[in-house]
Amino acid sequence: MEDRKFIIKEQGEEIFYKENLKYYNLIKKVYDRFDGKDYTKSSMGAEYIFYNTLIKFILNNKPKFILELGSGYTTYLMGTLIQDYNLDTKLLSLENDKKWYDWIKKEKLDPLDSVVMSDLESWNKDGKVFVKYTYDYNLDEVDYIVLDGPGHFEHEFEVGECQVVTKTWPKDNRESHELNITESHTHTVKRGINYNYCEILKKQNKPVQCLIDGRHDTRKFYENMFTQNQWSKKYIRTQDSIFKAPEKN
Ligand SMILES: C[S@@+](CC[C@H](N)C(=O)[O-])C[C@H]1O[C@@H](n2cnc3c(N)ncnc32)[C@H](O)[C@@H]1O
Repeated sequence: MEDRKFIIKEQGEEIFYKENLKYYNLIKKVYDRFDGKDYTKSSMGAEYIFYNTLIKFILNNKPKFILELGSGYTTYLMGTLIQDYNLDTKLLSLENDKKWYDWIKKEKLDPLDSVVMSDLESWNKDGKVFVKYTYDYNLDEVDYIVLDGPGHFEHEFEVGECQVVTKTWPKDNRESHELNITESHTHTVKRGINYNYCEILKKQNKPVQCLIDGRHDTRKFYENMFTQNQWSKKYIRTQDSIFKAPEKN
């Protein structure tokens, strides 16, 4: 049924190659195992520029507790980096999908045994679906968040709720409309807003560094939150911002 292939995301390949050859080769080698295979046989991976930024941030800031939301190649990269540099950094990576959890363990992409299974909880507020991993960890300790999950998930909609549906892509040309739910049903949500970062920000009551992959709605939510709190948006890094304003670290 699924004929989509695993495609390597190449944005920023040159920079990654030039600045972090060792880790470029690490990712490339593991990508080669899945290149051209069926989409369901490999985790999706991130753009090269994302890995490069991740490495630079970790080596420059040496965070004490990295929380990763959505496991994958980034887990492998960060685990290897922490090991190589003997960093005093705890890595906790939350994954909700047993299939991807098993895949990561089987493919030996979790060198520090950081990946744990977590349930998800989702709710609808003002037409937007929020989602969080329910795994328990110390919210006060986290000083870096890598936000790339969850992927698609099932949410039970109640009668009378509404959902904001975005019809078009790419993002410059998006159009949203509201869909009123007339029958309760379970529906796959593709663009939920991850709430774990919000819990950390509320608990610590100060900005905490975060790197977000894609996830337009999640990013917008946090940009608004930062504006309301008069916090600098430099704490939230995304692939787009990486390209527009290259990392100074
Ligand atoms: C985009 S992936 C995480 C990517 C990770 N940061 C990386 O660089 O590999 C986010 C979530 O999507 C899910 N996922 C990953 N690959 C998938 C695939 N090929 N099909 C469906 N879901 C996938 C997993 O549950 C994962 O936690």
